[in-house]
Amino acid sequence: MVLSVNMKFVKFIFLATIGCVIGQQKMMKIFGKVLDVDLDEVTIGLEPVSNFKCVDDCFQTDGCILVFMNSGGKCFSFDFNSTKKLTVVETKREEGLMVAFKTRFLLDQCPAYDDMDLVVTVGVDPIPWIKNGNEYTFKKCDLHHKMFKRKNGVVVCMQLYTVGNDTESVVNSMENAKKKCMKERKYQLTGVQSKEELQWIFGEYKIRSDENVGIWINARRQNEYSGMNDTHFNITDGYTTLDQEFYRNFADLSGISDAGIPEDCLMVSKASPGFLMNDVPCDNNDYAKVYACGYLLV
Ligand SMILES: *[C@@H]1O[C@H](CO)[C@@H](O)[C@H](O)[C@H]1NC(C)=O
Ligand SMILES: *[C@@H]1O[C@H](CO)[C@@H](O)[C@H](O)[C@H]1NC(C)=O
Ligand SMILES: *[C@@H]1O[C@H](CO)[C@@H](O)[C@H](O)[C@H]1NC(C)=O
Ligand SMILES: *[C@@H]1O[C@H](CO)[C@@H](O)[C@H](O)[C@H]1NC(C)=O
Repeated sequence: MVLSVNMKFVKFIFLATIGCVIGQQKMMKIFGKVLDVDLDEVTIGLEPVSNFKCVDDCFQTDGCILVFMNSGGKCFSFDFNSTKKLTVVETKREEGLMVAFKTRFLLDQCPAYDDMDLVVTVGVDPIPWIKNGNEYTFKKCDLHHKMFKRKNGVVVCMQLYTVGNDTESVVNSMENAKKKCMKERKYQLTGVQSKEELQWIFGEYKIRSDENVGIWINARRQNEYSGMNDTHFNITDGYTTLDQEFYRNFADLSGISDAGIPEDCLMVSKASPGFLMNDVPCDNNDYAKVYACGYLLV
């Protein structure tokens, strides 16, 4: 069934119904083109196909996220694994270019075109198409990274690392962890902005009860508050903003050890019940074995 919606460019195509709490998988077709892709060039040697077959083939293929086609039977599909970034821009009907996105919508919902949240649901986590004017952009994190879309619209990719693959080696200072993220991975020691990110980091390392392991994150108490039970942290990743309440809620803070050593750096670790972070000495830290790197997805 092809359902034409009373809208300028949009056509939903309900090819099948897949029961799912977040909606049924559908193809959404617009007049548009994939930027930086010459449809004639990429389809050289391919047999022309009908628009319907072009869209249906993508719909039926698990890894397909989008097809780019024209009225002359040229059809090119993009699969999830080999696509890191795609930009689609709306075009005029007369140009005869079309793009169909694989996405999910609830059957009983037909949001206005401008309110549509297109999401790629092919991979492990849903990835939003970011709409900016008449452009849609799809961006994926590096392999094995976890993507977080923050409230302020910032999208961040994160992963945890150990020294080599040796979980016994310590990364004994926060500065070392920062350097490791930068030099070896070209990432930042990442800051944490939400409970969701914190829980992911905590869970990802599956901290065992018998193992005293800490994970460096980017948060060092500002110099003038050193040694104090205070939430003025300095975050240097370039994309995390200081939210003092967040640290108060989720970090077990003291500012200083019983022996009088300042504890100005934050670590994700088993803390007192209810907390997922501790403030710890920034240097000579023997239980710092993991570090969380990240980068801004642009
Ligand atoms: C895509 O990558 C995933 C993870 O590496 C793999 O399991 C899957 O088979 C790949 N899919 C295709 C169509 O290559
Ligand atoms: C990491 O693991 C691989 C394969 O298990 C091993 O060959 C290698 O020596 C290990 N490297 C380190 C630094 O432990
Ligand atoms: C924050 O960190 C940067 C880089 O380490 C440093 O230059 C700056 O002085 C720090 N700011 C505060 C207020 O501690
Ligand atoms: C640090 O401050 C918080 C909030 O005022 C307080 O609940 C906590 O007990 C303090 N921690 C220590 C070790 O004094």
